[in-house]
Amino acid sequence: MIRLAISKGRILEEAVKILEKVNILCQVDPLNTRKLIIPTNIDNLEVIVVKASDVPVYIDSGKIDLGIVGVDTLMEDDKNNHFRLCDMTISKCKLVVAGKAKTKYFNNMKVATKYPNIAKKYFEHVGLQCSILELYGSIELAPVLGLSDFIVDIVETGKTLKENGLREHDMIANVSSLLIANKVSYKLKRKEIESIIGRIKL
Ligand code: PRP
Repeated sequence: MIRLAISKGRILEEAVKILEKVNILCQVDPLNTRKLIIPTNIDNLEVIVVKASDVPVYIDSGKIDLGIVGVDTLMEDDKNNHFRLCDMTISKCKLVVAGKAKTKYFNNMKVATKYPNIAKKYFEHVGLQCSILELYGSIELAPVLGLSDFIVDIVETGKTLKENGLREHDMIANVSSLLIANKVSYKLKRKEIESIIGRIKL
């Protein structure tokens, strides 16, 4: 049996569409079910929907063989103990530093983010000290209410920044979603995994 984890949210919607195009069909709609393990029309393939940040945890544990997950999540994960099989070219966005237009970087500024490791590394890299405030959603609110000076977050259309009077200050990385595999699964179940990758890459 091959288990494929897909990140909840934006990635899930686009990933399900890609799977459908290559005739990998979930037996219940993953967008409208509370079922956690979803059989597909392929006998030996199950789809599992999990929170993005949990995908690498499950893959690294070997309980799940394959995952579809954003580069942002993989950059934030410090272990990276899996194979990156292919770029699914879905859920494209970018990781940026954003804030109010007039705010300039300064030492000991406060940065709010869902990505504390990425933010810390980025500011170390540019030689600025900052304190990181970890939040779990609506990150843009932090600089608007003065809880932080900047944010590190993903931007897709730019609508959220614009509608909240913020702007991008620096780009950290381009993001899309990758298909990743547990290293042991890839060796032991190579044939089965490659037949799935073969379909997806078509
Ligand atoms: C993400 C991200 C931004 C927004 C950017 O949030 O954290 O808030 O999308 O998208 P845009 O550039 O198209 O406006 P998400 O919708 O995943 O929800 P969250 O804020 O609860 O994390």
